[in-house]
Amino acid sequence: MAHIFHVFTKHPVPATLAAECDACKNFVALHKNQQGGVAFMPMGDIVYLNGAFTQRQDARISPLDRGFLFAHAAYEVTAVYGGRLVDFEGHVSRLRNTLDAIAIPNPHSAADWEDLHVQLLHRNGLQEGLIYLQVTAGAYDGRDFAGPDVFTPTVLLFADHRPLIGPVAEHGIRAIFLNDIRWRRRDIKTTQLLSQALAYRSAREAGAQTAFMVEDGYVTEAASANSWIVTEDDQIITRNLSSDILPGITRAHVIARLRDRGLTVEERAFTPDEAYAAREIFTTSAGAMIAPVVQLEDRPVGDGKPGPVTRLVQRLYYEALGADVSKVAAWALA
Ligand code: PDD
Repeated sequence: MAHIFHVFTKHPVPATLAAECDACKNFVALHKNQQGGVAFMPMGDIVYLNGAFTQRQDARISPLDRGFLFAHAAYEVTAVYGGRLVDFEGHVSRLRNTLDAIAIPNPHSAADWEDLHVQLLHRNGLQEGLIYLQVTAGAYDGRDFAGPDVFTPTVLLFADHRPLIGPVAEHGIRAIFLNDIRWRRRDIKTTQLLSQALAYRSAREAGAQTAFMVEDGYVTEAASANSWIVTEDDQIITRNLSSDILPGITRAHVIARLRDRGLTVEERAFTPDEAYAAREIFTTSAGAMIAPVVQLEDRPVGDGKPGPVTRLVQRLYYEALGADVSKVAAWALA
């Protein structure tokens, strides 16, 4: 946890600015919220719900909302680094695809979505963390499966302060294998996440931090991230896009960075045995950016430490976000 506090203290807020700027209050509170040297990172207090910014505890959603009753909802999670949105265009375009696929009218233009995200991150003083967005099919007077012809969406956004370039990125995580029991439309980002929530619980019970999902003898993806391996002969492999996996925005960005460097990324499914034999494994997601996987089930990956390809990917990605890598992730340069 000391690491986590360090991540935030790297962005000091000058006292004068803090006094003037309402938006910085949460962030300053974050610095102060220490108990026994442990930083406490609250969810942002200000949320956006259906046209208004409000205190989180005052936000109210109908019990008949189809998001609640049927998981009839799209969501997006966008990383924020240095107070700026990361890969926003990709997120807003995937949101459009998800909404189209589940019959929810898109309530905002891309520019309006961006404006809502930026306002929310300012109001919460968010420097590093995530903006969560959910659009549901809304509520009407009843519960029926098909619902009305046209839905009136519920829109919710909240902010989540957390280190993205932090201890997980530095030291890596352990993964287990689990059967992929999800529905067939994993290419759209809906809130049907019960299997993933249970996967994380199983991982935790096994002393791991994530699970690699396996279907028909191949890894689909990680519980909430895309999965990558680097083979013994240095091939970089991540699963090809189809309805079997989510088209990760971080995945697309990493592929572009690697190809810019003249490196080849092979997009194909790989087996658990190929993962066991891999020299390196990592995952990509807005939630953890580039997370090295250093242990798979009870076996170390490679020498049990994040490897050079993973470090290169981290460096390229962090540089693209404008991070000062020598300061915030010197370990990625080693
Ligand atoms: N999850 N695959 C799955 C199943 C995911 O849930 C996610 C992201 C990804 C990576 O996508 P992206 O790079 O666009 O974040 C892949 C988010 C972070 C979440 O549910 O919290």
